[in-house]
Amino acid sequence: MDLSKKTIWITGASSGIGEAVAMQYATLGHNLILSARRQTELERVANACNALGGKCYILTLDLADLKNPETLVQEALAFTGKIDVLVNNGGITQRSLAADTSTEVVRKIMEVNFFGQVALSSALVPHYIKAGGGQFAVLSSLTGIFGFGLRSTYSASKHALHGYFESLAIENYKHNIHVTMVCPGRILTNISINAINGDGSNYGKLDEGQKNGIDAITCAKKIISAVDRKKREVLIGKMDLVMVYLKRFLPYLFFKVVVKLDPTK
Ligand SMILES: NC(=O)c1ccc[n+]([C@@H]2O[C@H](COP(=O)([O-])OP(=O)(O)OC[C@H]3O[C@@H](n4cnc5c(N)ncnc54)[C@H](OP(=O)(O)O)[C@@H]3O)[C@@H](O)[C@H]2O)c1
Repeated sequence: MDLSKKTIWITGASSGIGEAVAMQYATLGHNLILSARRQTELERVANACNALGGKCYILTLDLADLKNPETLVQEALAFTGKIDVLVNNGGITQRSLAADTSTEVVRKIMEVNFFGQVALSSALVPHYIKAGGGQFAVLSSLTGIFGFGLRSTYSASKHALHGYFESLAIENYKHNIHVTMVCPGRILTNISINAINGDGSNYGKLDEGQKNGIDAITCAKKIISAVDRKKREVLIGKMDLVMVYLKRFLPYLFFKVVVKLDPTK
């Protein structure tokens, strides 16, 4: 194992954007810790990454049920003795109106998208400080910047990540710890197929918007480039990026436009 290479820990590495980020880092020869719930899917990704030149360690975990994050961090550190980047990517979304979404579903989305990321990241910070620094890449979304139909809790969970990780970055700037907030628009992955309805059942459809999204490899390349440059925020999208600028600079116009958009397209 080449220890001059970086060690990258990726959650949600069993599919979609996490898988693509793992494959891109593998082509650069980096060491990878792959996490998600599904062991067999992680093995598939690990085999593909090994073939590309990466070295992989599989660390299964459930972000909704992290009993002992410190133990997971210790296990991750034992792979190469260091972690350079934690890519907080594992996540789920919804396709339900706020009024139709049960409290259980609200809590589940917050557990996976927010509390799970926070638990792993805060357990890693003392090790980063001891090591003289480290990086976090945090998968937010354009809906981490503005609200959107059928995404109330998803959007809330992503907004929460911005407040948490900006504060963490401010506190730890003096320790050489850097955070890159990644805000993609629609990326072609299984995210809408894996989405949940308001009653917790599976949505199970590839939305038209998703189908026309950016491919996951292009997204992964932009993420890695932003992390390499220690960018604090990266927006990844097409025309949907216009909404970010409307929200920031013309909020009145933003609202007039956003209420007319079909949230599945
Ligand atoms: N695709 C988009 O359009 C888009 C846009 C903006 C932001 N994002 C964000 O990008 C990230 C990745 O999404 P994706 O598009 O790649 O979707 P995806 O293909 O559905 O992948 C989601 C990943 O999260 C993992 N995951 C889900 N629940 C988990 C849990 N309880 N514990 C551990 N891992 C869990 C899944 O693995 P297991 O099922 O094996 O656990 C899977 O690897 C998410 O944070 C998402 O919010 C996606």
